Amino acid sequence: MKRIIFIFTFFFIIFLFTGMTVPAQEVNYDESKVPEYTLPDPLVMENGEHITSPKAWWNERRPEILKLFEENVYGKVPGKLQHITFHTFSVDSKALNGLATRKQVSILFTGNNSGTGMDLLIYIPNTGKEPFPAFLGLNFYGNQTIQSDTGIKITRSWVKNNKAYGITNHQATEASRGARAYRWPVEMILKQGYALITAYYGDIDPDFDDGFQNGVQPLFYKKGQHKPAPDEWGSIAAWAWGLSRALDYLETDPDIDAQRVAVMGHSRLGKTALWAAAEDQRFALAISSMSGCGGAALSRRRYGETVERINTSFPHWFCTNFKKYNDHEDSLPVDQHELIALIAPRPVYISAAVEDRWADPKGMFLAAKYATPVYRLLRKTGLPENAEMITGQPVMGTIGFHMRPGKHDVTNYDWQQFLIFANKFLKNYF
Ligand code: GCU
Repeated sequence: MKRIIFIFTFFFIIFLFTGMTVPAQEVNYDESKVPEYTLPDPLVMENGEHITSPKAWWNERRPEILKLFEENVYGKVPGKLQHITFHTFSVDSKALNGLATRKQVSILFTGNNSGTGMDLLIYIPNTGKEPFPAFLGLNFYGNQTIQSDTGIKITRSWVKNNKAYGITNHQATEASRGARAYRWPVEMILKQGYALITAYYGDIDPDFDDGFQNGVQPLFYKKGQHKPAPDEWGSIAAWAWGLSRALDYLETDPDIDAQRVAVMGHSRLGKTALWAAAEDQRFALAISSMSGCGGAALSRRRYGETVERINTSFPHWFCTNFKKYNDHEDSLPVDQHELIALIAPRPVYISAAVEDRWADPKGMFLAAKYATPVYRLLRKTGLPENAEMITGQPVMGTIGFHMRPGKHDVTNYDWQQFLIFANKFLKNYF
């Protein structure tokens, strides 16, 4: 009898540990296993006070949410660089068979060529009238990968190895030209009357965990500081900071209308685009392509990538404080619908793909939906009422959303929707 009780107890304990919940490290793709959760209300202050006017949103709740994201998720930018300069190093008025003028501009973070900096690649339509509205987005492998245009400077920064793209020993080569052109339909964008500006994200901060010794962070260290404080920026916030510096330059360029710049990014750079637009209200519109966890997807759903997974695989992306929420999503003082709400009343577009379950399409749709009360308070539509997540049927209010068939990527279909959405807000402006 004793033995039976022992065996029973033994298996019961094992059952308790394994059978009842999804173990922390296992990926959940089962909607029925999404835990119950309560989201923080973007219109209720931490002290319980209800926000019922735009004024209270702007003066009280928005600054509160922004600070919570800065201190707990992405990290604060520690200050300002005093000596940034812009240096235009190449202009070709007959680029892309005469379709565009190509400019390349270095943003020198220390004011000279010896320090770190980022190179902007700028295409401006040759037909139409300046100043043009524009899309601004970071790229993954260097500016030279977005077009086979041989005039584009090849990045000299550290790049993730990719043999197929001609990148070995972390250095891009001639073979990498145009490797990612399929993700950047430059002609289509230019022909619709937009300028396109891109920069390589690794120019700002190389995307690997080196304890923040390279990239832009060390330029901000105080005496004796060797890494960002727990509430100071990780790489995503640094990349977003770089996007704002690109916008600083665009404000000086008479060919571009800096008040009509859409910030766009895919995946980790979609997270970055959203954070950039939240932090910097000069961005007129934001486009998040499949940004998932830490982007447009609700963390509390723990569907696909979770906070613990992302912090483990990419320990340098968020601030150190974010690690406190590994497997403790419910104690996060914010969730990602509030990241979208921070962009209100400006338009935001969110894309998803059926096979990209890792990025939790439904979690992104719900975040759009739960950001909507803030848009409504500011007298904008947000996600249209009764919007549904139906494959291949984009919805476009002030918040737009689509889920297309296929995988985690940026396709022509995605860009077509981004352009339709941008046309609603950035064209016919005057
Ligand atoms: C990984 C990561 C995602 C990220 C993606 C990307 O899949 O887990 O969070 O969005 O890389 O940037 O490509």
